[in-house]
Amino acid sequence: MSIIDSRVPAIHVEGLRKSFGANEVLNGIDLQVEPGEVVAIIGKSGSGKSTLLRCINGLETFQRGALAVMGRPLVYGDPAAMRQLRQQVGMIFQSFNLFPHLTVGKNIMLAPSLVKKTESQALQAEAQRLLHRVGLAEKFDAFPDQLSGGQQQRVAIARALAMDPSILLCDEITSALDPELVGEVLAVVESLANEGMTLLMVTHEMNFARKVSNRVIFMHEGRVHEQGGPEALFADPQTPQLRQFLASTRH
Ligand SMILES: Nc1ncnc2c1ncn2[C@@H]1O[C@H](COP(=O)(O)OP(=O)(O)OP(=O)(O)O)[C@@H](O)[C@H]1O
Ligand SMILES: [Mg+2]
Repeated sequence: MSIIDSRVPAIHVEGLRKSFGANEVLNGIDLQVEPGEVVAIIGKSGSGKSTLLRCINGLETFQRGALAVMGRPLVYGDPAAMRQLRQQVGMIFQSFNLFPHLTVGKNIMLAPSLVKKTESQALQAEAQRLLHRVGLAEKFDAFPDQLSGGQQQRVAIARALAMDPSILLCDEITSALDPELVGEVLAVVESLANEGMTLLMVTHEMNFARKVSNRVIFMHEGRVHEQGGPEALFADPQTPQLRQFLASTRH
């Protein structure tokens, strides 16, 4: 894991506004995430959760406000800075997005082989180590379609880790999985949290958010509407919008 300067916030977002045409999706987001912090983002469909994550790793541009990752401000016009940002911020999606024609091992080695000047043997050893870490040591030569959804998502996590990111963004990474496969993916995320990885994760798994996160952020209409420690936030929501949202997620 990267050496972390704990004096600099891992993520700093200030007054961030983002529109798609006339549709303002992020209406002034202020957010700071400290190194090693585990932050869960919850909120209704369309509240801007994915858009916020995509802004943080440079997949979306925004119109107003400021964003810095590990103390470095985001500058769109600077390709070297954007490349560095993407190396520091790993992202995992709901759809696993593995390359179907590459083996698991090659999926993991691809990005580092393009970016890092490392010998292929060392890359292979690192890929093996990461596969072991996500509990898939024996799958190095398998193809994605030979794996279950949960296994594919764990490979996607290993692939993100291969770039040695300082921060991991997770966007509903268990939402496409059959219920019996959710636990194995969440266990990997929990182990990363315990090892001190900075995590910002959009999730519908309220029990998981409660158990693993240091802080929960409730987004509503493109703003951070309410936030707090998981126990307090779930037990004692302060705004009607959060109360209503929590009621709608209980079955
Ligand atoms: N590429 C795009 N072009 C136009 N509008 C978009 C685009 N991406 C997102 N939006 C709009 O931005 C709003 C917020 O979308 P976003 O995906 O961030 O919500 P979300 O909170 O992640 O929702 P969900 O829980 O359904 O994933 C929605 O109104 C959506 O239609
Ligand atoms: Mg989303």
